[in-house]
Amino acid sequence: MIPPVPGAPAGVLSAVGATPLVELTKVFPGSRFRTFAKLEGHNPGGSIKDRSALGMLIDRIRDGQLVPGKSVVVESSSGNLAIGLAQVCRYFGIRLICVVDPRTNRQSIAVMRALGAEVEMVSTADPATGEYLPVRIRRVRELVATTPFAYCPDQYGNPLNALVHRQTMREIVEGLDGRLDYLICATSSCGTLRGCSEYARELGLPVRIIAVDAIGSVIFGATSGRRLIPGHGASVRPALFQPGLADEVVHVSDLDCLVGCRRLAGREAILAGGSSGAVISALDAIRDRITPGATCAVILPDRGERYLDTIYDDGWVEEHFGAVGHLWKEPEVEVGPC
Ligand SMILES: Cc1ncc(COP(=O)(O)O)c(C=O)c1O
Repeated sequence: MIPPVPGAPAGVLSAVGATPLVELTKVFPGSRFRTFAKLEGHNPGGSIKDRSALGMLIDRIRDGQLVPGKSVVVESSSGNLAIGLAQVCRYFGIRLICVVDPRTNRQSIAVMRALGAEVEMVSTADPATGEYLPVRIRRVRELVATTPFAYCPDQYGNPLNALVHRQTMREIVEGLDGRLDYLICATSSCGTLRGCSEYARELGLPVRIIAVDAIGSVIFGATSGRRLIPGHGASVRPALFQPGLADEVVHVSDLDCLVGCRRLAGREAILAGGSSGAVISALDAIRDRITPGATCAVILPDRGERYLDTIYDDGWVEEHFGAVGHLWKEPEVEVGPC
């Protein structure tokens, strides 16, 4: 039997990270650059947030600050982080309360509950902004103040949520033997962007970092607006944000996400979530400015199964966007590598 590596996460948690990096050869027909996709949906909880959840909790569990049967983890999440936390907390027998809102999809809530999390839904949006995030954050503060031995990982301000993504970037860079010219990365808490950016800057890598945000998100100073698709974007600027993390920011609409997702599914047979569609559309938007011969990496943060009722449901699409199917019509049949 192979002996366990001392200090390494065990069981299902040992499957977090080291996700596949695959070349996309069909989604940008005729492009003069190469594109590789980091498939973060292959993490055991289904998203990149497994890395954040593990990174924010594991040392606290190891050093005894979080005690199974006594400590209570409380966090606000629109879905993926809560699932990652539920996975870590269930594995170690730690109680978890997730504060979610009506935009969190039903399947994600069912997964959290199946993994033993207690789910608390805020029902009304912030009257000043119409957003749920400030209400979720207020409720988390109340719970932390009133629950004995409560701990909030605070994904929006916890440096460990950024630190852990140095490893994400390292896997990408090493997977490409150091030949990376552009990284395209969706943002919400800024954990992924900051970790990847800091790793690249510290190693002096000549990679141009493109952050992808939602139209209606305030992270990069734009004004707040209504957004349909969860995952990327934020209605409050996260404490992890710092100026200069990205060389360029591309804002994408809900329709852009949808088109990116449907093209990924239709052309590459990759069923991915809304923010994956966002990064694909963002790269498409800047494709004429990509240096010919360059290598690009896109991070696809989660899988598409949690979006089957929305992005991949023709009725939902028609209701919200009208007849838009022509936007992802298949290109001429192209025989790809086997
Ligand atoms: C689907 C999805 N995409 C993108 C992001 C953004 O990642 P980060 O919080 O590291 O900025 C998240 C964060 O929850 C997410 O769930």
